Amino acid sequence: MEHLINPQVKEIQISGIRKISNLVSTIPGALTLTIGQPDFPTPRHIIEAGQRALEQNKTVYTPNPGLLELREAASQFVLHKYGQQYRAADEIIVTVGASEAVDITLRTILTPGAEVILPAPIYPGYEPLIRLAGGVPVYVDTRENGLKLTADLLEPHLTDKTRCVILCYPSNPTGQVLSEQELADLARLLEDKDLFVLSDEIYSELVYEDQHRSIATIGKLREKTIVINGLSKSHAMTGWRIGFTFAPAYLTQHMVKVHQYNVTCASSVSQYAALEALTNGIDDALPMREAYVSRRDYVYERLKSMGFELDKPNGAFYLFPSIARFGLSSQEFAMRLLQEEHVAVVPGDAFTAYGEGYMRISYAYSQEVLEQALDRVERFVSKLV
Ligand SMILES: Cc1ncc(COP(=O)(O)O)c(C=O)c1O
Repeated sequence: MEHLINPQVKEIQISGIRKISNLVSTIPGALTLTIGQPDFPTPRHIIEAGQRALEQNKTVYTPNPGLLELREAASQFVLHKYGQQYRAADEIIVTVGASEAVDITLRTILTPGAEVILPAPIYPGYEPLIRLAGGVPVYVDTRENGLKLTADLLEPHLTDKTRCVILCYPSNPTGQVLSEQELADLARLLEDKDLFVLSDEIYSELVYEDQHRSIATIGKLREKTIVINGLSKSHAMTGWRIGFTFAPAYLTQHMVKVHQYNVTCASSVSQYAALEALTNGIDDALPMREAYVSRRDYVYERLKSMGFELDKPNGAFYLFPSIARFGLSSQEFAMRLLQEEHVAVVPGDAFTAYGEGYMRISYAYSQEVLEQALDRVERFVSKLV
């Protein structure tokens, strides 16, 4: 019967991040720097809000786009933090993590053959959803461009089939952010084109030496942009599964149908916890951000001193050094590092073929783990050169 299964689904590969994480569990004493989730617990007051919701039997369906109070809190949060203006009533949907937000966006805007531009290397969660929606991913190689999608790099890839450009800044896996000028240039290029922009801003609270800026706040871009955000990274709430879409009403009214028939609504208990996060916990990310900055600086300096080539990224919790000088493919490098020194990193090719020649290190780990793991990385690379 297997031949009857949708070939498009059969072709989807398990993510390279999961593959390496699964392997790590078979190696006793292995240290892992692979996971993209905060090592902090969800703040206590948010957990208590979730507990109260349970005790008060707030365990029934909510409105499809989410509790109105939560959408109002989300509207205030993005206005106050990033200057984004979205109406709670008809421009915001509470989703099951940012992942569902990406899915309902793509399924709402894509038709068969529609091209979606992605700066690569990039988070591997988009391509399967683009393909399932009938779209065609078109990767733009950013390796010679500071790992950023800029207007001049993007322009030659735009065709009359381009229906969407995905921006993921701060970036997973590179940690790069776009400057105000780079965003303005992209906005000028895209403002009069018949296409949408999916701006995945899930790491917006983790921008370090600067402020987060969204393309949706520039000129006419608000009308064609779907902003995706959520609480997984900002409030250490990956398992609560709360994300958001912020998009003009003409788009949201259609996205909400896809969401409704897919999940009905996000978990009610998680929504009450999220309400607490976005009212009494709007600055909960700040102490975590401080810790990430000092870890980033530590890991960056260590890697530099070992001879890795890398830029110091300004957001998210990843470093993406080049491993080219060691003469191994990203798979060989990651496998040998795991087998010989028991440290797991994600091979760059998990972030599309354009990630070949790199590895991703997550520094969402304690200082002790980072120190030990980097000692082992140092021992490993000293054998290679
Ligand atoms: C860029 C990016 N977008 C979306 C997601 C998914 O987020 P969520 O856990 O809220 O679904 C992740 C998770 O790692 C991510 O890195």
